[in-house]
Amino acid sequence: MRDQFAEDPDRFEKFSLKFEGLLLDYSKNRINQKTLSLLQQLARETEVEAWRDRMFAGEKINTSEDRAVLHVALRQPPDTRVEVDGVDVMPDIHAELAHMGQFVHQIQSGDWLGYSGKRITDIVNIGIGGSDLGPAMVCAALKPYHHAGIRPHFVSNVDATHLVKVLRQVDPEQTLFIVASKTFTTQETLTNAHSARDWLIQHAGSKAAVAKHFVAVSTNAEKVSAFGIDTDNMFKFWDWVGGRYSLWSAIGLSIATTVGMDHFRELLAGGHAMDRHFAEAPLEENLPVTLALIGVWYVNFYHAGSQAILPYDQYLSLFSDYFQQGDMESNGKSVTRTGEPVDYNTGPVIWGRPGTNGQHAFYQLIHQGTGLIPCDFLAPVRSQNPMGEHHTILLSNFFAQTEALMKGRTEDEARVALEQAGLDEKTINTRLPFTVFAGNKPSNSLLFETLDPYTLGQLIVLYEHKIFVQGVIWNINSFDQWGVELGKVLAKAVLPELETSEEVESHDSSTNGLINYYKTLRDHKN
Ligand code: F6P
Repeated sequence: MRDQFAEDPDRFEKFSLKFEGLLLDYSKNRINQKTLSLLQQLARETEVEAWRDRMFAGEKINTSEDRAVLHVALRQPPDTRVEVDGVDVMPDIHAELAHMGQFVHQIQSGDWLGYSGKRITDIVNIGIGGSDLGPAMVCAALKPYHHAGIRPHFVSNVDATHLVKVLRQVDPEQTLFIVASKTFTTQETLTNAHSARDWLIQHAGSKAAVAKHFVAVSTNAEKVSAFGIDTDNMFKFWDWVGGRYSLWSAIGLSIATTVGMDHFRELLAGGHAMDRHFAEAPLEENLPVTLALIGVWYVNFYHAGSQAILPYDQYLSLFSDYFQQGDMESNGKSVTRTGEPVDYNTGPVIWGRPGTNGQHAFYQLIHQGTGLIPCDFLAPVRSQNPMGEHHTILLSNFFAQTEALMKGRTEDEARVALEQAGLDEKTINTRLPFTVFAGNKPSNSLLFETLDPYTLGQLIVLYEHKIFVQGVIWNINSFDQWGVELGKVLAKAVLPELETSEEVESHDSSTNGLINYYKTLRDHKN
């Protein structure tokens, strides 16, 4: 890359793209024009454009579940038409948005009162996976837009500590629980929801309080009623919205309640703008396609096993967590769409955390480790909390890291640096190998003006469609998640075995040994 930058002063212009206020600089990658053209040809040969159009048209491209993939429709304006099984889904989507709007208004204005007549101040979203990570990530990202009187909380883990910690912070008289679950059968969510309900009833002294303090978001009205939430207090979405793509639906109710419906609609608008770009821009100018192709280049041609997402914005602290599910649950597949085993690598491990904290934790391995870890750097030009030199310092680190990764430091340069530090020849020679950086480490940089709801919508959808394009190229179904089932089934079988003190023998020796050790200690302590 060093040589390529030296040879071509226009490399940045040639290998960067802009969409609205968003700049994608992908010039610090191990690519040249030929690589890119061949990757674009790969996208054409694997029919990325046709699959994209099928998704937008509501075709059932999630074949293993026989479902359409229409989270894109959730971001569309009402004057459009999208059909599933011959029925236009747009009126339903906008009716549900209106329903959300009324509810948000009731909560924020103080019209919705708790069992003792007080207004709601705390929203607790109970969900997991896609019914948690998206809302939690967006609420964290949009902190400057929070309504003054509302605090959002998120409970996902079945470990009671998660729920207990949140319940300690809230007042039952002023807390609203949103039970968010597409299926309304998820063990963790239902366990947490039942315990939260018991807690509320215990404080209120009556089951009648549930109606004022519990709403549900689900596709499963029957299960919502069975839980004891009136379907009048239910917000719906549809089976063609995948869990990890659902923050745009009523699953975003905790977002809308926290930041207000106008900001939620701005988020949708930003997402929709990126949808249009993805649907309309030629592959050569298409941001999600470009990110996807570069990712494929490293996964399949350099065997990179992971991809770091490194936001230089503290409000994006959950962004890489969110895309761990978004990407890994989508593209962590090893059979093709028609069920044959693949003989190439598919989705990488996604990880990361905000800079500059990551710099002092794991960047060492990115700079000088043995593996290749492509990185995405993201940063706003303007901070939401300008204070002294902070943001300039933050961004100087952002720019410097991408430069250091690309350039590295040659032996000659390292020697000069050691000489300038005043070290003697012997120390210089001993230290030299440790201070050389191979460089040539790839990164993409995304710069945007400020982290407002619209821009956040764009960023999320940029990554959603990157995942989509990669799934098409790898010929896998990015929209099912059968791989999470086995663990759930086995956990259900183990649970009753833990309820007795008898030794178990039904598993392999490791699982038996672990269970029996647990029981011995547990029963001994009791
Ligand atoms: O176990 C994985 C998963 O099915 C995710 O795909 C989903 O986001 C999560 O569980 C939660 O599911 P639900 O919204 O149905 O509770």
